Parts: sequence; C-alpha cells; structure tokens
Amino acid sequence: MTNELLIGVIGAGGRGAVAHYAHNPQDGVRLVAGADTDPAALERFRGVLGADTFVTADYRELLARPEIGAVFVATPDHLHEEHAVAALKAGKHVYLEKPMAITVTGCDRILRTAMECGRRLYVGHNMRHMTVIQKMKEIIDSGRIGEVKAGWCRHFIAYGGDAYFKDWHADRARSTSLLLQKGAHDIDILHWLCGGFSRRVTAVGGLTVYDRITDRHDPSERGFAGWSDANWPPLSQTGLNPVMDVEDISMMLMELDNGVFASYQQCHYTPDAWRNYTVIGTEGRIENLGDNPGECMVALWNKRGAYKPQGDEQFPIAAVGGSHGGADPAIVAEFVRFAREGGATTTSPIAARNSVAAGYCAAHSLRNGSVPVDVPPVDAKVAEYFAG
Ligand SMILES: NC(=O)c1ccc[n+]([C@@H]2O[C@H](COP(=O)([O-])OP(=O)(O)OC[C@H]3O[C@@H](n4cnc5c(N)ncnc54)[C@H](O)[C@@H]3O)[C@@H](O)[C@H]2O)c1
Repeated sequence: MTNELLIGVIGAGGRGAVAHYAHNPQDGVRLVAGADTDPAALERFRGVLGADTFVTADYRELLARPEIGAVFVATPDHLHEEHAVAALKAGKHVYLEKPMAITVTGCDRILRTAMECGRRLYVGHNMRHMTVIQKMKEIIDSGRIGEVKAGWCRHFIAYGGDAYFKDWHADRARSTSLLLQKGAHDIDILHWLCGGFSRRVTAVGGLTVYDRITDRHDPSERGFAGWSDANWPPLSQTGLNPVMDVEDISMMLMELDNGVFASYQQCHYTPDAWRNYTVIGTEGRIENLGDNPGECMVALWNKRGAYKPQGDEQFPIAAVGGSHGGADPAIVAEFVRFAREGGATTTSPIAARNSVAAGYCAAHSLRNGSVPVDVPPVDAKVAEYFAG
C-alpha cells in the first residue's frame, strides 16, 4: 500500500492508549510496536493489537526498527526530552504528549533536534481540538467581542488528589510543578484565544491540603492514580506519594507579547471538575458554561446590562464521541495526516514550548516571593523554521 504508516508507542500503557485511535489498517496505518517498562502494559497492548505486535521494555529496540515511520511518546513528563530526542534522531516523526518537557531547555533541545533532523514534531495539546474551545476561538476570530484585551481561566480539578498526588506528578523532580504539568494545557489555550505568548509572569500558590495527609504508599510502589468518588473530602485520601513537593493551589498572571493580560487559577481539591474560561474584548465577553459537549455552551455578552447568567446569546455545544470530548480522535487524525503529508496543524510545537516556558517561569515566581519573571523567547532561527 502506498503511503503506509507504521507506528510505535513509547509508554504503551496509561495515556499511550490514545495512539489506538491511529490504528486503521484499511487506511494503511497500523500500530505495530510498543515499548513500556511495565510488562502488564505490554501484555494489554499486545492483547488489543495481536500476538505479532513487537513489544519491548527498552524503547531503543523499538526505535531501531526501520519500518516504523512515526512514534507516539506518552511516557511520564520527565522522560519526554530523552524519548522525543531519541525518536527524532532515529528518523521518526513524533507525536509527543504534553507538556513538551519539564524545563525550557528541554523543550528547546527537542525543537532544535526536530529542526536538525528534519522530522515532523507534533505536540499533543488536545484541548485545541475540544469543540467548546474551538467555538470560543471561532467567536473571537469572527470579531464578535472586538479586540481581545483579557483572558481568564479558573480550573477546578476534583480528581486532583486521585490523579496528581499519588505518583510522579507530585514530585517536582519529575514534573517541575502542576502549574506547568496540568496548566500547560490552559496556558496554551489562553495564548491561543488571546493571540499572543506570555512575555512576563508572576504567581502565588502553595501546598495547602494534601501535605496534611500522612497515609503514603511505599517509595518502591508506583501509587494508584485511579479516580474514586469515595475519596471525599480531600483530606480522606490515602496512599499518597511519599515525595510531595508541588503545589495543590496556584494562581498566575500573564502579560502577553501583544499587550493582552491573562490569568490562570488551578485548584486540586474542588468538589467539581471543569474549566471555566472567559475572554474579554472591546465589544463583549464570552464564557464557557460547563465544558462537557452535549451539556455545555458558550455564552456571549455584548449588550450592556446587569447580571445575565446565560449572556445575550448562547452557543450550545453538541455531544461528540471519543475521549476528552472528542478531542483525542480529532488530534490523532490530525497527527496521522501531518506525519504522512505535512501541512498546517491546529497545534504548534512553538506554542507548546511557550506554554511550558510560561508555566516554568510561573513556578519559579511562585517559589521565589512572586517575583515577576521574564519568559525567555524561543531562538529566532528555530521560530522561523517552525513558522515555515
Ligand atoms: N493530553 C492529555 O489529555 C493527557 C492526558 C493524560 C496524560 N497525558 C500525558 O501523557 C503522559 C503519560 O501520562 P500517564 O498518566 O499515562 O503516565 P503513566 O505514569 O501512566 O506512564 C505512562 C506509561 O509509560 C510507562 N513508562 C514509564 N517509564 C517508562 C520508560 N522509561 N520507558 C517506557 N515506558 C515507560 C509506564 O509504565 C506507563 O505505562 C504524561 O506526559 C501526561 O502529561 C496527557
């Protein structure tokens, strides 16, 4: 078959499951190999794809297979730099999960490697494929709120104790901070909706609840990061990670390079789970009310008045199939097309780098008396390469 694409997955368990959306033998796209240090994850991977699937505990063996044209990297954050650089150097196109890396220098090394190797790099910022976010972008681009001046995001993470304080996420050596780890999504969306990148940030925050829990799992165990409604209130959580030095609440302010001001607030112990964005322009304001397609809408306020909970106009968001509100099948389809043919994409490696850079600098601000931190811009040559 012409234009056949064979794909390997590094980090085949956990989030690596997203790669299965790419497996479409009728279209010439097949997942053929998985690497994971967890034998059970490899067993499940082979169980889904068939006994002839190549599996290995050593990702280098996967990269050494010349028939593999593209690789998904879905390992924990602190391994992204090593795995993405190795995959690009091995000549593979790469789908790299967000955040791109846990440091700015790590991101810049990945960008430079992709440029030098001439391989296609795609970062999994699936929120850009969420229909509720796309509706907000469409309304902004249509000019209905005038010139954008401010963007705010409140992020309520009901599953914070389950998903982020039981394993590597809680350890800053492996994640830098949750402002970067989790916030990379939202910083990227704020940059996208507001049309600029952070040039200066400041932040406050702390570890305010989960550090009071003394029930920790053994350092030799991974920790069970599954969601349970029974884990409520947050202080009733058990089996938390023995290393815990990231914040469970953080708030950052951003000054963008186009003069827009933005803010992002993240809390890991709310009872409810959703993100609430508002973007304010010179002629109106939009806000998402809920974020689950089929139940949520974007509201537009563009007439003067007092409290109008539903706005002046409503844009309901229809139900859609697939994980993360349909964003996962959509982003994987875009990556497959990009790996095969190139062309424009909704996500951007430079934007992915800049969301990490803003989160990284905000974590530094937060841990150093909220000092304002200038976000280092990406190297001009690298920016030019990716713009092209
Ligand atoms: N875009 C999204 O919506 C989204 C959602 C969830 C996770 N993620 C990202 O996906 C990545 C993985 O997250 P996760 O929760 O699945 O993590 P995880 O801890 O479950 O690890 C993923 C897999 O990588 C394997 N692994 C660990 N070390 C390895 C190594 N050295 N070589 C090969 N495999 C190794 C693990 O055994 C596991 O199967 C993270 O970067 C996370 O930020 C993104």
